[in-house]
Amino acid sequence: MSVPPPPEPITGGRLLFSLDPAVSHLNHGSFGAVPIVVQRAQQRLRDEMEADPLRFFTQGLVDRITHTRRHLAGFLGADPDGTALTTNATTGVAVVLQSLGLRPDDEVLTTDHGYGAVEFSVRRECRRTGATHRVLRLPLAATDEEVVQIVRAGLRPGRTRLLVIDQLTSATARLLPAAAIAGVAREHGVSVLVDAAHAPGMLPATVQSIGADFWVGNLHKWGYAPRGTAVLVVARPWRERIEPLVVSWEQEAGFPGRVEWQATADYTAWLSAPVGLYTLRSLGHDRVREHNAALAAYGQRVVGDALGVSPVDLPDPGGPGVAMRIIPLPAGLATNIDAARALRARIAERLAAQVAVMTWDGRGWLRLCGQVYNSPDEYERLAGRLPALLAQR
Ligand SMILES: Cc1ncc(COP(=O)(O)O)c(C=O)c1O
Repeated sequence: MSVPPPPEPITGGRLLFSLDPAVSHLNHGSFGAVPIVVQRAQQRLRDEMEADPLRFFTQGLVDRITHTRRHLAGFLGADPDGTALTTNATTGVAVVLQSLGLRPDDEVLTTDHGYGAVEFSVRRECRRTGATHRVLRLPLAATDEEVVQIVRAGLRPGRTRLLVIDQLTSATARLLPAAAIAGVAREHGVSVLVDAAHAPGMLPATVQSIGADFWVGNLHKWGYAPRGTAVLVVARPWRERIEPLVVSWEQEAGFPGRVEWQATADYTAWLSAPVGLYTLRSLGHDRVREHNAALAAYGQRVVGDALGVSPVDLPDPGGPGVAMRIIPLPAGLATNIDAARALRARIAERLAAQVAVMTWDGRGWLRLCGQVYNSPDEYERLAGRLPALLAQR
């Protein structure tokens, strides 16, 4: 079957970044990439900090953080008074878990599409408090209605205290109907934490309309912010119950200040994050989103074709705008995390291509992303060389 053409390139996209030109960077989803102007903005802030540290920390830093928080919340469609800057999504999740006051009769429900580190965090908090952790299985091909049904059937009212769902899953690149799931959970009196690590910059900015109790999102993936920039959004009834991981000088300020001020730290990533959003806007945010999603879909088709995967067996994200796609690997490859890591490293070393290799549901998957710095020939080159590499077991 012929592959639909790739999208029109975004001219100059690659030159905005300082990426090694000898490598195909096809995994923006894991650690992002920071545009050069954003790197420079952060460096200027660091220069200012090092010129007079006392002045930097004691004269206006809290106000600058507040201003940044308002800017980022506005971009995300979140209530600025319910939004706290954090260093990453994992930290936001940990803040929520330890603020819940779980008890031995409580249960935390996650899905089998959840992010590994978040699962570890839930497991630890359940171990610490005596609560139970239960994992709900969601078939990859389930429709949104089926997903909502499975979640509805899986809730145990009175017992399930928290449901953790992903807005866009990492290992399976699947959009979940977060607003509908949050609605069902609310009907049953269950609180919801939405892990939206990939949403800022990639998905429409609609945090408030999702109606979750807690929402975490990374700006340092698709929002072009320096690493260490994320937000935790908390619904009004919970705000005063949220405790920071580290108690510091803003403790008495309440939420969100007490979560944001984590003692003497480098806050320059947050302060330069608006430059990332400015970069996105000046390229044309909708244009970037459409380009990236179409390029990821193109990559999925050419690499899928090369591996002999029929288009009907290529998982669909379940909605528009998703710039990550997965491809099933031949049976027996990457069936556990160590094998997946080893294969990812082998592809990087031998094919000069950075990709994600995941294990999910007992089999291996390749995940490809699309970004403004990518071009169709990078996926075509991977497609040309990957089958031979995979054949060498
Ligand atoms: C779904 C999901 N949740 C959480 C994270 C963790 O992000 P961070 O390492 O920035 O905390 C990721 C990272 O890829 C992710 O994909």
